[in-house]
Amino acid sequence: MMNYKSVHFTVDFDVDEKVLANVSNLLSKQPEPHPYIEPNASGYSFYFHTLDVKLLQRQSEALSKQDLFSGNGESEAKRANGVLHAILNEVNKIGSYGIKSGKRQYVDFNAERKVRNRKGKEKNRSQYYYAQENGFSESNNVLSSELVNRIICGDSFEVLKTLPNNSVDLIFTSPPYNFGLEYDSQTDTYFWERYFEELFAIFDECIRVLKYGGRIVVNIQPLFSDYIPSHHLVSNYFMKKKMIWKGEILWEKNNYNCKYTAWGSWKSPSNPYLKYTWEFLEIFAKGTIKKEGNSENADITADEFKKWVVAKWSIAPERNMKEFGHPAMFPEELASRVIKLFSFVGDVVLDPFNGVGTTTAVAQKLGRKFIGIDISQEYCVIAEKRLRPSLF
Ligand SMILES: C[S@@+](CC[C@H](N)C(=O)[O-])C[C@H]1O[C@@H](n2cnc3c(N)ncnc32)[C@H](O)[C@@H]1O
Repeated sequence: MMNYKSVHFTVDFDVDEKVLANVSNLLSKQPEPHPYIEPNASGYSFYFHTLDVKLLQRQSEALSKQDLFSGNGESEAKRANGVLHAILNEVNKIGSYGIKSGKRQYVDFNAERKVRNRKGKEKNRSQYYYAQENGFSESNNVLSSELVNRIICGDSFEVLKTLPNNSVDLIFTSPPYNFGLEYDSQTDTYFWERYFEELFAIFDECIRVLKYGGRIVVNIQPLFSDYIPSHHLVSNYFMKKKMIWKGEILWEKNNYNCKYTAWGSWKSPSNPYLKYTWEFLEIFAKGTIKKEGNSENADITADEFKKWVVAKWSIAPERNMKEFGHPAMFPEELASRVIKLFSFVGDVVLDPFNGVGTTTAVAQKLGRKFIGIDISQEYCVIAEKRLRPSLF
């Protein structure tokens, strides 16, 4: 016998046979086994297995249009639409379902999983084996109010030493890329070994100040033309330092105008040059993948959560870099998604390469405490100006 899931709904108008027939006809366009409605003592039950929710929404829009032409009163179309609305309302409250050919499967959606006893097997394999016996202290510290909500001008390697161990919830940053960009006060073309040595010394400090359970998210773009996979080198480094690699987000910038004529060896396999329209966000956790926090302080909505855990984010690059006077900013939308997905309201967010303060401006807007460090005085002044005045 086929299993169904059911929700209960009520409407504040009369659902006569005509309306029920109208709705049943619409539901017959849904994937099999078709959903159906049954009246009960306190309203109606809606039984369903797999739903094409977009189709339900389109049908509801079509009924609204029909209703516009039907004059005043409770038209049949209006009541049928009221029923669809009530159904959609209840169905959209359900957060767990599988997706199959674009339809939501609410029943047995785990049954077809190819790997049985997934949890047991994960345990046997030992998840993040490289981060065991990390020696990280589990005792976190609270930062005093003088240390937070600040933009600090200086070399992060030195400034970070002034912060206590285990005191920051989330670090989100984009290091200088070593591409030869014209930053205000800093060379951006070093021999790669020296670049990584200096970067990793700062990352060591980042790991130290991060809370147990805290996360560090590094936005990084490899220099493909030098054949340096910076995202892999950075990930390897953090893993060597016993941080858990929590995942990777592909930031699709859709900037197809990038070097479109640089083909390498044109029409020849001798040395074709690959092109990229995306960057990476590498995510690491200290000690545990689960972060302690009060669920009341989670400000991400259900829709945002569902969209953003699919780890390919299509976000246009920052368009106002000239206005801010910085050559390598990331857009506010990127910072906003990272902060809402990986931290709670009230957490401390740090950016050790804060530039003109995108991370700090967004962190403040989202009710987080923040610390932004940059070596350039000029960028720090701009970063402060982007903050809401209440704090300064
Ligand atoms: C890619 S940019 C970050 C831009 C930033 N995400 C934004 O949206 O404005 C890297 C920044 O690192 C800064 N920087 C380079 N070396 C540094 C260091 N040792 N300490 C602190 N900041 C540094 C540069 O001045 C530059 O602003």
